[in-house]
Amino acid sequence: MARGVVIVVLTIGLAACSGEAGRSGSGLPGGELFLRHCSGCHPDGGNSKYPPKSLDRFTLAANGIRTADDIVDKMRNPGQGMTRFDRQAIGDADARKIADYILATFR
Ligand code: HEC
Repeated sequence: MARGVVIVVLTIGLAACSGEAGRSGSGLPGGELFLRHCSGCHPDGGNSKYPPKSLDRFTLAANGIRTADDIVDKMRNPGQGMTRFDRQAIGDADARKIADYILATFR
């Protein structure tokens, strides 16, 4: 009896999680998402393709990028040499997590 209840609760929990992932994100932390999508060209917040445009706060600000929204805009509309990440590639919730991670991590 008790075991049956546990299994039902677990199943509902899993269903809720996978629904959530579909709608609002992967559930992965920003740092993990950054490693997957960005670190190939931005190792440790640098820029291996175009070194003057690294991801430290000072350089970002000098290039007019100050907020998480500004970083998400860059992902949606990148400059030359950067992969475009549209909403299908990285949803808004995950894009926001990556942006927050960048602002909190690279100084
Ligand atoms: C294929 C290589 C590549 C990948 C992958 C890539 N970038 Fe870039 N990124 C660049 C290049 C090249 C530039 C410089 C051109 C520009 O400003 O778009 C750049 C510039 C930027 C800038 C502006 C930096 C500044 O100082 O002005 C931000 C912010 C940025 N990338 C964020 C990201 C994020 C977030 C990801 C992952 C979701 C990512 N990039 C993935 C190549 C890449």
